[in-house]
Amino acid sequence: MTLHVVILAAGKGTRMKSARPKVLHPLAGRSLIEHVLSTADPLQAASTTLVVGHGAEDVRAALAHRPGLQYVVQSPQLGTGHALLQTEPLLKDRSDTVLLLYADVPLLESGTLTRLVEAHRGARAAATVLTAELADPYGYGRIVRDETGAVARVVEERDASGEERAIREINSGIYCFSLGPLFSTLHQLAADNSQGEYYLTDLVRLYRAAGLGVTTLKLDSADELRGVNSRVDLADLSRVIRARKNRVLMLGGVTLEDPGSTYVDEDVSIGADTVIGPRVILEGRTTIGGGGRIHAGVRLTNATVGAGVTILDGSVVVDSEIGDGASVGPYAHLRPGSVLGPDTRVGNFVELKKTTMGRGSKANHLAYLGDARIGERVNIGAGTITCNFDGEQKHPTVIEDGAFIGSDSQLVAPVTVGKDAYVAAGSTITQDVPAGALGVARGHQVNKAEWAAQRRARKTERS
Ligand code: UD1
Ligand code: CA
Repeated sequence: MTLHVVILAAGKGTRMKSARPKVLHPLAGRSLIEHVLSTADPLQAASTTLVVGHGAEDVRAALAHRPGLQYVVQSPQLGTGHALLQTEPLLKDRSDTVLLLYADVPLLESGTLTRLVEAHRGARAAATVLTAELADPYGYGRIVRDETGAVARVVEERDASGEERAIREINSGIYCFSLGPLFSTLHQLAADNSQGEYYLTDLVRLYRAAGLGVTTLKLDSADELRGVNSRVDLADLSRVIRARKNRVLMLGGVTLEDPGSTYVDEDVSIGADTVIGPRVILEGRTTIGGGGRIHAGVRLTNATVGAGVTILDGSVVVDSEIGDGASVGPYAHLRPGSVLGPDTRVGNFVELKKTTMGRGSKANHLAYLGDARIGERVNIGAGTITCNFDGEQKHPTVIEDGAFIGSDSQLVAPVTVGKDAYVAAGSTITQDVPAGALGVARGHQVNKAEWAAQRRARKTERS
């Protein structure tokens, strides 16, 4: 039996009060729709269709990296039942099964979807509704059961009687449908409710009236069924996702000193025996090897960090690589395109941009190194600056293996300091320094003997 996934993502998300479509709001580093798509991925459905409407072009553009998706546009958006109806032209084979997901229910787990599909097929039902009990069911559709305990209908919060509102079993909005009777019944939906919408939930009542089988799969916990309707939900669910990720990391051998303040995106991986301090933020596709130490207040975005690396407090690393055994910070800034070799050291208040540093090289204090290619075992003194920008263009600096750059030097690019060469402290280097040479480029010192006494004498004369 063939499985098709349909994801409803056309709604405006009024309660978000946002110019951005709700499904593109990020939750722990991934958009809501990305969360749902990656939950569905393991089911390997024959087709995945997104019903889009509000902000349709933005949604498509944001998902351009997933070329296999089909889209149908729902315009105007007349409710969840109307939304599913839009897929009729795409889903023709009436023997197939449809798994319906909402783009604003991001915590769902793949295993739950597999169970839902199995329960649906096992029961040979026309529809299977995923449900759970909530302590506070406010806002959700409620599952109304008949005297036999079978589901009779779903009633929305706004349309529910006082008695129905007391029901704690909620409709998750996730269903499995057999395609056979689906579209002919959807055509019968009426918008006779408080919102004037075509409610997908009314299908349950229509199916029962037609004698078609409707079953439920009730989960023990409703946590993964929580939907995002407002930014309050977004914050609440982010906490859940972060806690989940942190738990996976800790069970994988990573120490989190303060999990509550550790923000790790879904796609981040960290090796065992790495210790993460408080207020660390790890974003995007960051990977960190084992046995390392990331101290408080560090932010890494798309960073590739080797094994046994120490990153000290307050450092920021973006789109850069750090080799095994390196040490970075405190308060270092690695901007995009920086590559630190193994056992390098980049210390206090050092900024790198598009700069590579070979094995064992050091820049321990207060430096700006931009567009530089630095070899192995190079020592960059405190206060060194690569002057890489002439106001119009960027120029490269090359510092070869074993070179020593004295403190407070400026290297005016394009310029090369050769292998094992020295630059004297305080130099402004505008010409290449050949291998093994000493480059000195600073004013000569003059000492004026007895100058202080003479100055005092001049002062006394004047008064
Ligand atoms: C819906 C269910 C409710 C359930 C809850 C679970 C209905 C009528 N109600 O309510 O029983 O408890 O979800 O979270 O189905 N959408 C469209 N086109 C539309 C309207 C909505 O694509 O015309 C999409 C939205 O983008 C969203 C999803 O459908 O992804 C749910 O819509 P929403 O308006 O949030 O429904 P709820 O009021 O939460
Ligand atoms: Ca919703």
